Amino acid sequence: MQSSENSWVLITGASSGFGREFAQQYAAEGRSLILVARRLNELEMLAEELRARYAVDVLVQQADLSSIDVIIDLHRDLHDRNIVVDILINNAGYGLQGAFLDEPLESSLAMIDLDIASLTAITRLFAEDMRARRKGHILMVASLLSYQGVKNFAVYSAAKAYVLRFSDALHRELKGDGVVVTALCPGMSDTGFASNAKQKITPLLRRVMMQPQPVVQAGIRALQAGRMSVVPGFGNKAISVLTWATPRRFHQGLMEHVMGV
Ligand SMILES: NC(=O)c1ccc[n+]([C@@H]2O[C@H](COP(=O)([O-])OP(=O)(O)OC[C@H]3O[C@@H](n4cnc5c(N)ncnc54)[C@H](OP(=O)(O)O)[C@@H]3O)[C@@H](O)[C@H]2O)c1
Repeated sequence: MQSSENSWVLITGASSGFGREFAQQYAAEGRSLILVARRLNELEMLAEELRARYAVDVLVQQADLSSIDVIIDLHRDLHDRNIVVDILINNAGYGLQGAFLDEPLESSLAMIDLDIASLTAITRLFAEDMRARRKGHILMVASLLSYQGVKNFAVYSAAKAYVLRFSDALHRELKGDGVVVTALCPGMSDTGFASNAKQKITPLLRRVMMQPQPVVQAGIRALQAGRMSVVPGFGNKAISVLTWATPRRFHQGLMEHVMGV
């Protein structure tokens, strides 16, 4: 099913993990896709697979999104080609495990650049177009760690707290303009995240780890339903409820136990 409509789903970080799964699930719905990440080979192989399997249009854009200029160029290029992005999946991001003072400052700042500044910039550009059309959907991939400061993930958990708060606020700001903004808050999941984060996978973490398929499905459903946010999986939901219902020292201790830090 090839869509004749000029309506595209832009997925950042589509070369692996959740981003790749978003591409699979939206392609299965017959949507036209724009796949963005740095690893061109992975994007092109995925695009080939999706075109062959679902007969959908897939554009591939190699981009290092930690540069705001690159984001501005990407937006301008799509605009010049009259490509309309109706769904933006703000997924590209990473974390680093380690004591704050033992990590180089440059690594912490680079993470903030991608996880906060770039996400803010790309949202600003595409949300403005959506507001003008009075139509659009934006999914922000936050984290279960958005809900609390987590030892040895200080910068990452703070960055994801930003993503969740930013998303919650935009959900309300843009509601009246026909633009839905939803935050997806996954817990530990089986993607490239852990190895990029140099994270130790404890036996407990391995037991609670989710596969990308149900996480992404929960995100897409919540976005379609116009929800403010979603925490996928029963265990993750329980942890998010405990965060509201218990003193900080209790749920921080619990999270440190689960994360093995
Ligand atoms: N997996 C988990 O346990 C978990 C839990 C909560 C939240 N999350 C969040 O989920 C999102 C996706 O991560 P994942 O778990 O799917 O991990 P992943 O498999 O490592 O995927 C990360 C994606 O981000 C892209 N990316 C990284 N830096 C980039 C850059 N500078 N420019 C463009 N693209 C970049 C990577 O592509 P290239 O390397 O090709 O650029 C890759 O496609 C992240 O925001 C992460 O924080 C993950």
